Order: sequence, then C-alpha cells, then structure tokens
Amino acid sequence: MGEKTLREAASERGLRFGAAVAADPLTDADYPDVLQREFDTVATENELKMGRLRPSRHEFDFEDAERIIGFAREHDMYTRGHTLVWHRMNPDWLTPWTYTDRQLENILREHVHTVAGRFRGQIDAWDVVNEAVADDGTMRESFWYRRLGQDFIDDAFRWANEVAPDAKLFYNDYGAEGLGEKSDAVYELVKGMLDRGVPIDGVGLQMHILLRGEEGRNPTPEEVAENIERLADLGLDVHITEFDVSTAHLEGDHEERLEKQAEYYRNFVQTALDTELDAFVTWGVADCNSWIYKRADGDDHPLLFDEHYQPKPAYDAVMETLTE
Ligand code: G3I
Repeated sequence: MGEKTLREAASERGLRFGAAVAADPLTDADYPDVLQREFDTVATENELKMGRLRPSRHEFDFEDAERIIGFAREHDMYTRGHTLVWHRMNPDWLTPWTYTDRQLENILREHVHTVAGRFRGQIDAWDVVNEAVADDGTMRESFWYRRLGQDFIDDAFRWANEVAPDAKLFYNDYGAEGLGEKSDAVYELVKGMLDRGVPIDGVGLQMHILLRGEEGRNPTPEEVAENIERLADLGLDVHITEFDVSTAHLEGDHEERLEKQAEYYRNFVQTALDTELDAFVTWGVADCNSWIYKRADGDDHPLLFDEHYQPKPAYDAVMETLTE
C-alpha cells in the first residue's frame, strides 16, 4: 500500500467512500483498523433492520446498532442508516400478524419515530424505504404494500423527517442503476414524491454487480451516469450504497478474475467522479465479511480487501482512479 489511504484519496476528490459494517467484527484484530483507516463512511449492514431491533412488540434493542454508530462517530465518519422499512428481515412477531391495517400503520409509525428519533443528529443519511419496486417496475407486493397501499412510502419519509429533520432521507433499491423499466419506475416514484411535497433527499443505487453472472443484466457506466444525471436534475442526491463485484461468474483463474473485477471497480468509481456523486459505499470491508463470500462458502470474492484484509487489485484500481 502506498502512503495515501483510500479515505484520504477519496476525500481529496470530494467523494465519501464507505463500507457496510457489522457490530461483531468491530472487536476483531484487523477489521476496525482497516475500516477507520481506509473508509470515511459507515453503513449499518443489518443492525438497524427491524428484525434485529425489535425482539418483541414493545421492546427495542439498540445495543449493536449503537456500537456501529458509536465507532463511526469516534472516528469522524459519515453514517448511513440502513433501513427503516423493508419487506425482508422483519421480526417473527410481526409477519404472522393479526393486526388491523390501522394497527399495522401505527406499528410502522412508532418504529420510524423511535428508530430515526433515537439516532437524530447521529445518522447522516437514512435508507428510509428499501426495495419497494419489483423487478418489472410495478410496486412490490410486500405485506406493507398489500396492507397499507403505496402511501406507506410517503408516510415513512414524513415520519422520519418529523423526528430527524437534519438527516438526508433516501429511497434505496437494486437493479435500478442503469436504464430500464425498473430504474424508470424508481425515477417516477421519487419524482411523484417530490411533486407531492414528500421530504425525500436522495436515491440509493445498490449496485451488486455480476451477481447472476449475466453480463447483459449489468448496466454500463454510461447508462449509470445518465441515470444519476436525471435523478440529480430532480434535485436529488445519489449514493452508490452497496457496491460489490462477484467474481464467481468471471472467466479465468483466480488472479485473472481479480484483474477483471478491478476493471469494474475502476469504471464505476470513475463514473462516481464524473457525476460528482456524494458517496460510494461497498457492501462490507473485506471479502470474509461479505454476504456473497459467505453465501458461496468462501468461493466468491467481491470486495476491495481479501480475507486477510490485504488490498486486492480492485483496491489498486480504485486508488489509481482517485489519484490520477
Ligand atoms: O447473525 C446470525 C447468526 O447468529 C446465525 O448463526 C446465522 C445463521 O443463518 O445467521 C446470522 O444472520 C444472518 C445475517 O445476514 C448476518 O450474517 C442472517 O441469517 C442473514 O439473513 C443475513 O443476511 C443479510 C441480508 O441482507 C438479509 O437481511 C446480509 O448479511 C446482508 O448483507 C443483506 O443485505 C442486503 C441489503 O440489506 C439490501 N440489499 C441487498 C443486500 C444483499 O442481500
């Protein structure tokens, strides 16, 4: 590694560079050092999801989330809270509900008020609603949508704004990075919210690259730039929120795959610079922390650092892009 860290290089280019963080490895040997040295932005990977925070209907357990946010603040890092409303990782007591629609709305309002309010002034950006649009561009038939209709989205943003007026409020989704029916649907969704006066500040583009190994499904940097520009023209901030590049479907031996992966990192960090994006967040610190690595039993290597926390070719490519 050179003299300059990724954190310094990105900051000199006005780009926040982040990682999704879990509470448990914060006490490991290398994880906290690499995290605070190389990144200036922290996203909570799982610890602010409803299923993690709500062991029972009337109980909140903030301990793990507070460890992450506390670490970030101690190291002067920007914080992305992920996520207030999602159709996955909800508590067991919620999903087989026997609640009326009114009760369900009250549960959601109480959740958003309590969680966003608790971290008022400590979380800089919230993914208020995650993945509410289906792959074909229709509204996802989640239980929130089926029971509360599309209003749950506007409501969640308004409730978050009531208790955390200084936080930037984001709609976050996958598969809406480039151009196509899903990104058009996300564009129309957030445009409609702005027209209705809903307090939305930004859109998060997840960007899990090559996950299904179908090259055609992956957006080109040019398309992503065009999509970012049209969202920015609405007055919205855009963050790349969950970047990773699965190596499992790349051709070649391990070394060749890492070189190819590095090109994806290079191209999309360049896109981030070209479009003056505010934040670029990778979904984990080192490969061994990644959901993709775990899912593939260690046979897929999506991030900038390897399982020994050593920088990979992708790290060098990002550094070159930031410093050239
Ligand atoms: O912590 C428990 C552990 O105690 C237990 O032994 C183990 C057994 O399965 O499970 C562990 O929890 C898992 C958790 O990740 C931590 O590793 C959950 O089962 C697993 O469902 C959970 O997956 C997370 C997934 O969201 C679902 O919430 C991934 O870590 C997380 O990376 C992933 O993140 C999502 C974003 O929120 C939204 N966008 C897509 C992205 C990838 O799916």
